[in-house]
Amino acid sequence: MSAPRQNWQSKLGFILAASGSAIGLGNIVFFSSNAYQYGGGAFYVPYFVALFVLGMPIMMVEFGIGTLTQKSFPMALSRLAGRRGEFVGWWSIGSALFITMYYIAILGWALGMMIGAFGSLFEPGVSAPFAPFAEPTPEPNATVYFFNLISTWNPLVYIIIIWLVNLFILRQGTHTIEKAVRIFVPLMWLFMVILAIRGLTLPGGFDGVMYLFTPAMDGIKEPTVWKGAFSQMFFSLSLGLGTMTAYASYLPKDADQVNNSMLVSFLNCSFEFLAGLAIFSLLFVFALNPAGTTLSLSFFVIPQGINELSAVPWIVRLFGFLFYLLVVLAGITSSISLIEAPASALIDKFRISRRRALALIAIPCVVGSCLFALPQIIDPGLSGDGTLGLTLLDITDHWVFNYSLLTVGFLEVLMIGWVFGAGKLRAALNENAHIKLGGWFEVLIRYLLPVILLVVIVTSLMQEWPLYGSTYDMPGYGWLTIFIPVFWLAFTLLFALYITRAKTKEA
Ligand code: PFF
Repeated sequence: MSAPRQNWQSKLGFILAASGSAIGLGNIVFFSSNAYQYGGGAFYVPYFVALFVLGMPIMMVEFGIGTLTQKSFPMALSRLAGRRGEFVGWWSIGSALFITMYYIAILGWALGMMIGAFGSLFEPGVSAPFAPFAEPTPEPNATVYFFNLISTWNPLVYIIIIWLVNLFILRQGTHTIEKAVRIFVPLMWLFMVILAIRGLTLPGGFDGVMYLFTPAMDGIKEPTVWKGAFSQMFFSLSLGLGTMTAYASYLPKDADQVNNSMLVSFLNCSFEFLAGLAIFSLLFVFALNPAGTTLSLSFFVIPQGINELSAVPWIVRLFGFLFYLLVVLAGITSSISLIEAPASALIDKFRISRRRALALIAIPCVVGSCLFALPQIIDPGLSGDGTLGLTLLDITDHWVFNYSLLTVGFLEVLMIGWVFGAGKLRAALNENAHIKLGGWFEVLIRYLLPVILLVVIVTSLMQEWPLYGSTYDMPGYGWLTIFIPVFWLAFTLLFALYITRAKTKEA
């Protein structure tokens, strides 16, 4: 039987949980690697435009509809915009399931590296069953260590551990989530401050900061930089997957969501810059180049930098351990929100118990996460990603990360702007807000954001040929490049259709 709707015990609990959701792999890993890839300071202008024009207003929408309806994302959209709205909501929940599966797989690898910090991660002589890495290395080499790790079955155990921790934290909803974030969130800030101080006090560390902070205007002309900044902002602020609405639905109706959105965005972006300081200083001091996929930064380049931090082995190990512990903690406070979004949606729609909702999600998704850790080597020359799991992850991430969040954002502003009415949402938000939203908010939601998002989505789609991953050298597995996007789309659309048509159990 279903329990009455729960609530956060305090506003602080909500802010910690929402900012914990926002701060995650996106801030520590993806921001630095995107900022580097798109030219350091050149990333700024698109980044800030994305924050103020896109990120904060959409967060106000997602928080706002949660408190207004006291429902999770699909049911909130259903109430405000009818069946079409509900369909959009479930489609986003379908994508949230995909992201959860691979997000947790990455956290499993991070846990493996954390353990490795006290094993052979920082020792010479590692080798991996890959052609380029088959020989034992004369120096410690994180890249080889990582490939060695993912070509074994061990990460499956780590992934299951991360899943169990998530389910444990989610077992009593807000009550247990709040307990966990009260410990995890302050700890991750503390660890990040330690890492940033260490990076900045290295001789030469400041050059990296200069690279990151010297604005360059040339990026403005590049559409890919804009797309990069927009997707990054959506992902980083946990938008477009129903998480923020689920969390906000547990707040009392008179919560000031304008203020909350500004606060959570501010906390998220501050953390992101702190991470940028720590990582860029390390990169510059040791002349490391984070080229390649976003994951290579966290699994190859940063540990390589940490390895050079000190001649004293235990200090290196401690910093390595601290860095991956930070990634795991920040990741778990995000993954719980990724699981809470579908859980609360199922509870709202079918009135099932939390335990049942969590089981319905976890059973297929644990299997999915494990698929991303399959150790079979399908690309021994590493022109792509090496193992079957990593290749699956890379291609899935490309499609889901780049398209689902922005598309949900586009559809949700259409639903709220045109079907429900941007004016009504503005009035509801303003009722409890200290800083009132002006008429610009309606213009933004109705006209500007749909146009901007559509342009970004269409221009990115136009650059999608050849298909992502088709240049990899993986004999026998080339079909994956088509299969993955088709499977993701077919699954999420059918899932959304099926659940939208199912009968809603009234409270
Ligand atoms: N914001 C998280 C990060 O930066 O790692 C990832 C995330 C969590 C995205 C929850 C979306 C979401 F709904």
